[in-house]
Amino acid sequence: MAAAVAAVVFAAVVATTAAQAEVRWEVAYLTLEPLGPAQKARRTCCHHLTSLFSVLVIAINNQFPGPLLNVTTNQNVRVNVQNNLDEPLLITWDGIQMRMNSWQDGVTGTNCPIPPGWNWTYQFQLKDQIGSFFYFPSLGLQRAAGGFGPITVNNRATVPVPFDQPAGDITLFIGDWYTKSHIELRNMLDDGMDLGRPDAILINGRAPYRYDTTQVPDGLQYEIVGVEPGKTYRFRVHNVGISTSLNFRIQNHNMRLVETEGTYTNQQNYTNLDIHVGQSYSFLVTMDQNASTDYYIVASPRFVSDPQWNDVIGVAILQYSNSKGGASGPLPDAPNDYYDKYYSMNQARSIRMNTSAGAARQNPQGSFHYGSINITQTFVLKNEAPLLINGKHRRTINRVSYSPPETPLRLADLHNLTGVYTTDFPTMPSNAPARIASSALNASYKGFLEIVFQNNDTDVQTYHLDGYSFFVVGMDYGVWTPDSRNGYNRWDAISRCTTQVFPGGWTAVLVSLDNVGMWNLRAEKLDNWYRGQEVYVKVADPLGYNITEMVMPDNALYCGLLKERQKPQVHESNSKSLAQGGAGWSYKLHVTVMLVVAAMIFS
Ligand SMILES: *[C@@H]1O[C@H](CO)[C@@H](O)[C@H](O)[C@H]1NC(C)=O
Ligand SMILES: *[C@@H]1O[C@H](CO)[C@@H](O)[C@H](O)[C@H]1NC(C)=O
Ligand SMILES: *[C@@H]1O[C@H](CO)[C@@H](O)[C@H](O)[C@H]1NC(C)=O
Ligand SMILES: *[C@@H]1O[C@H](CO)[C@@H](O)[C@H](O)[C@H]1NC(C)=O
Ligand SMILES: *[C@@H]1O[C@H](CO)[C@@H](O)[C@H](O)[C@H]1NC(C)=O
Ligand SMILES: *[C@@H]1O[C@H](CO)[C@@H](O)[C@H](O)[C@H]1NC(C)=O
Ligand SMILES: *[C@@H]1O[C@H](CO)[C@@H](O)[C@H](O)[C@H]1NC(C)=O
Ligand SMILES: *[C@@H]1O[C@H](CO)[C@@H](O)[C@H](O)[C@H]1NC(C)=O
Ligand SMILES: *[C@@H]1O[C@H](CO)[C@@H](O)[C@H](O)[C@H]1NC(C)=O
Ligand SMILES: *[C@@H]1O[C@H](CO)[C@@H](O)[C@H](O)[C@H]1NC(C)=O
Repeated sequence: MAAAVAAVVFAAVVATTAAQAEVRWEVAYLTLEPLGPAQKARRTCCHHLTSLFSVLVIAINNQFPGPLLNVTTNQNVRVNVQNNLDEPLLITWDGIQMRMNSWQDGVTGTNCPIPPGWNWTYQFQLKDQIGSFFYFPSLGLQRAAGGFGPITVNNRATVPVPFDQPAGDITLFIGDWYTKSHIELRNMLDDGMDLGRPDAILINGRAPYRYDTTQVPDGLQYEIVGVEPGKTYRFRVHNVGISTSLNFRIQNHNMRLVETEGTYTNQQNYTNLDIHVGQSYSFLVTMDQNASTDYYIVASPRFVSDPQWNDVIGVAILQYSNSKGGASGPLPDAPNDYYDKYYSMNQARSIRMNTSAGAARQNPQGSFHYGSINITQTFVLKNEAPLLINGKHRRTINRVSYSPPETPLRLADLHNLTGVYTTDFPTMPSNAPARIASSALNASYKGFLEIVFQNNDTDVQTYHLDGYSFFVVGMDYGVWTPDSRNGYNRWDAISRCTTQVFPGGWTAVLVSLDNVGMWNLRAEKLDNWYRGQEVYVKVADPLGYNITEMVMPDNALYCGLLKERQKPQVHESNSKSLAQGGAGWSYKLHVTVMLVVAAMIFS
């Protein structure tokens, strides 16, 4: 009896049909110490793992990382999110294209936050897309505490995949981790401080395997990936960290790259690949090595200034089913490219679209000849080192540091509210004084937009655009000029949603503006995003509401200037209504907890 009730409360999948995927997620803190109890670490060793203390992670249905959202092209998805944190919550869906439906995007410009104790149901239909993505909480640096999980969009049965069916799917989340809570990290950023060196690189929320007794304390839980000799698996690898670019590799094993963020790639073997914050890749890996031992899976920092970062390495174990012994030897080498700044860039340039492979549709993905479409609009967006604004270090794009207004931009437009935000975001860099603003970029519906990211800082940046997939047509060092267009890849550039921009360099992307909405363009590095590196791209169709754009959902929450419109939420399982606002949050009832208690009593 107890088990049955608990299953109702915590099980992710409520119902799955071909047409609709429906899940219920409870988002709550979980006490978990990925890097072990403080005392143990202090007693043993390890200079970089010393300041450890008990941490709360954000879990979904008691899982960290969160559960897989396993869906299919064109499927309708409903995710009922119960916010049992003590902070407002929004979940965003990195790379899911939310066709005509920015109402479900889960960022401050489109949605009011779900107050603590409330639940809200995201409802969307998947576009013509396939691939490996992830979801995460988008507010206030919460991703630094967890709350992320995988989204796999499978192809429909009638659409072939350009490789043999793998023996299994293995999802790996790699990312830097701080033992400080996301609240402490947030306070540091509010004070204009940098976060400094992370305490570890986690793989699937777990500590490194003890590959070196001087670097890693004893007794930590590490990730073990079990495989059968001779078989081929699809590894879906996501960098969900805060700010560290990572080099990913598997000892003695080739990784055949097959897909990135929704596009099948030209299949090539890599021995290692740089995966920047927010990026996702699928590799096919064949278990063709001597099966009598284990192998290291490694994620190590890249492009870090402080050499001590190089001691912070994520290590998991690849274990053949008949393995007789532990992994041995040194960790596989990271690229030794200290004097070759093009190594990583050339690797990125080598990632091309397979133009003859169909993706979500039968017709090949290359049949859209992006290279011959005329550009109708250009934004050149420049990143600089942190700038002082009102005495605090902030991050900027074209000298503007974004400040989210309390009223979501899209909701303000729908209600004809003026003064919530402006559309004067500069489309070109300038030397204007840096300022904080709530400002958006107008983009013309049905236009063909060129975005050039110019990076004037000394570390790698990554940028992501919601609602779209863009063609990464060029990247180089130096300052972009219109002549740089002559070097664009106009034939098989990869189409994806998150791109890196090397320090002192630029990356150019092309976007077909076919999706009406208010779309978030942001730094994926959490610290830069939190300190203002974000802007909304407004793709408006003035006559399109309820025609080219979906109507606002019935359950939309209100806040900011529209908060009077919000009705109190009544939970079905109890009649207590929770008024929105500070006072209401403090007496929130955990319906799920009550049900579990009831189950224990009645069993
Ligand atoms: C995901 O869904 C696909 C298609 O329905 C199914 O073949 C696969 O087994 C599912 N994977 C998991 C891990 O549930
Ligand atoms: C909250 O959850 C309840 C129970 O699952 C559901 O009936 C209700 O529709 C949800 N509310 C919202 C706004 O999603
Ligand atoms: C591209 O896709 C086609 C069609 O599925 C496949 O046969 C071919 O092997 C792929 N080519 C490369 C280089 O990945
Ligand atoms: C890629 O790696 C696989 C597995 O090691 C190997 O079988 C294959 O021949 C390699 N392909 C190329 C083109 O090197
Ligand atoms: C595999 O490794 C074991 C232990 O190192 C060794 O005894 C064996 O000969 C190896 N097998 C092959 C096929 O190399
Ligand atoms: C693109 O622009 C060129 C030069 O202005 C023009 O000749 C051409 O017709 C345009 N192509 C399309 C498809 O609009
Ligand atoms: C906003 O303005 C439009 C066009 O003038 C009008 O049709 C619509 O009813 C207005 N919406 C609200 C909520 O006032
Ligand atoms: C942006 O578009 C709106 C209409 O959607 C218009 O009122 C405004 O003037 C435009 N801003 C700029 C800078 O072009
Ligand atoms: C940043 O811009 C300044 C001024 O244009 C230039 O002198 C400097 O070299 C640039 N730094 C990088 C890392 O691009
Ligand atoms: C949207 O259009 C449909 C069909 O024309 C209509 O029934 C519905 O009332 C419209 N909804 C809104 C919110 O305008």
